[in-house]
Parts: sequence; structure tokens; C-alpha cells
Amino acid sequence: MFAGRDEQPIVSLKGVSKVYPPSTAALTDVDLEIERGEFVFLIGPSGSGKSTLLRLLYREEQATKGRIVVNNRDVTAMGPSDVPFLRRQLGVVFQDFKLLPRKTVAENIAFPLVVSEFSARAIRLRVAQLLEIVGLKDRRHALPAELSGGEQQRAALARAIVNNPVLLIADEPTGNLDPETSRGITQLLAEINFRGTTVIVATHSEVMVNALRRRVVAIEGGMIVRDQARAAYRDADAGPAAQPDRRLVASGAAPAAAAAWPGRGSRRG
Ligand SMILES: Nc1ncnc2c1ncn2[C@@H]1O[C@H](COP(=O)(O)OP(=O)(O)OP(=O)(O)O)[C@@H](O)[C@H]1O
Ligand SMILES: [Mg+2]
Repeated sequence: MFAGRDEQPIVSLKGVSKVYPPSTAALTDVDLEIERGEFVFLIGPSGSGKSTLLRLLYREEQATKGRIVVNNRDVTAMGPSDVPFLRRQLGVVFQDFKLLPRKTVAENIAFPLVVSEFSARAIRLRVAQLLEIVGLKDRRHALPAELSGGEQQRAALARAIVNNPVLLIADEPTGNLDPETSRGITQLLAEINFRGTTVIVATHSEVMVNALRRRVVAIEGGMIVRDQARAAYRDADAGPAAQPDRRLVASGAAPAAAAAWPGRGSRRG
């Protein structure tokens, strides 16, 4: 069909600025391209503009200036009626999980599919698959309040990817978790990316960034100050990584994932 369209970057920002009224310049003249299949860490001090950049991608905020294209759609020109369609192609997770408190783990994961045209049987199968992947099979009937922080974040991740999104956006996904639990979530994000989903993670976690050694985009004062492949959290630490991907996936938080994954692995370039 549209030959070559998939070769476009999945995310492109050109000359993007965001001013919150009356005069907070959160982002200034940002240029950024992210290719399909990439894993990108967005780092920078508090208030530097990380969450703002992410919110522009799923149209929670609108740019003041510049052009943003996400998965071939110009989100800066998009009307409000197109926003739900954009969001169905994306998965988003937050530091505070945002699970529906009165629904069980399984119901939370199923939620994005309930409003879709899928049959009850298809939804049940897909949810079972996701429960397996994130290791929550035994907790599927629990309510969010009955889960640990790490379990809640795994449920939130499962919900975010249940639709098979082309892009997963995570804003400080390990912000509320202890180091060991953070490691599990980091592995899960690597696994999701390994299966072909583009992943963007805003984080303050030096441990997480250094564990994966992926592309690091650093923002300060609303401007990109560093953009480096296979990088560490601190510039000075940058160096060759000892096959981090293989190790993470092999020791994975979700051993069944590789077999169970429905994914888009074959689409990776
Ligand atoms: N809704 C808003 N209204 C007004 N100003 C805002 C709003 N959201 C963010 N800001 C301001 O924009 C700037 C960038 O904020 P942003 O939340 O993007 O930073 P961040 O890098 O995500 O920080 P943190 O690491 O603390 O999450 C800050 O000066 C912040 O005070
Ligand atoms: Mg933030």
C-alpha cells in the first residue's frame, strides 16, 4: 500500500516550542527525530521539559510553535476529533500508574479493548497473554489497591500495550518503585522494545539508563543539550556496553514473554 511510509521517523519535532501561559517557556525550538524501533531515554533536571515534550506527543498539550509528526500524523494540525485515533496507536504509562481503582487487574488490562470491536473471546485471550507477559496471572482478580507498586506498574504496562501500540511513552515509570522493582520494570520495557515497539522513557533513574545503554536525549531549560546513542546517564560514563540487551532479556522479568508475544517483532528493521 503506502510503500516507504514506514521509513519515516515515528516521531519528528521541528522547531517546537511550548509556552505555558502566561510566560513559562517549557520547550524552546526543539528538533528531534526518533526512528521506528528505537528506545530513547529522555533525561534532565526537574522542570527541564521532559513531561511537556511527552504530553505534546499524545496531544495532552499543544505546541505553541513548530511541527510534530507522530506515526505519520501531524499532531500539530490535528483537530480534536482525530485525537482519540492518535491515542489508540500509543501506549502511555505514568509514575502513579493511573489504574481504575474499582476494576480488577484483568479488567484494567482489558479496558482499552472493551471500547473496540473485539469479541469477548478475543479480549479474554489477549488479556491472558498480557497477564503472562507481565507475570500477573495469579493476581488477575486483585484490585489495584491490593497490589504492590511494582505489580501496579506491570498492570499499567500491560494495559498500555494491550492494543499493540506502535509507540510506548513512559513518564518516570519507576519513580515510585524501589531499585529491585525498578529493575524488573526496566527489563519489561526492554522486552517490549525488543518485540518491536518504539519506546520513549522520561526518567531520573541513572541506574535504569545505565542498565540499558540506549539512546539518551538530555534536556535542560527546555532545550536539547545532548543526544547520544548507546549512552550512559552521565556523559563522562559513555562507553561501549557489554551486550546489555542480551543479558537483560535473558534474565528477563517475564520468561514466557518471548513465546507468548503476539508482537510486531518481524517489523523491526
Ligand atoms: N500545566 C502547566 N502549566 C504551567 N506550567 C507548567 C505546566 N506543566 C509544566 N509547567 C512548567 O513547565 C516547565 C517544564 O515542566 P515539565 O513538567 O515538562 O518538566 P519535567 O522535566 O517533566 O520535570 P520533572 O522531572 O520534575 O517531572 C516547568 O517550568 C514547569 O513548571
Ligand atoms: Mg515530568
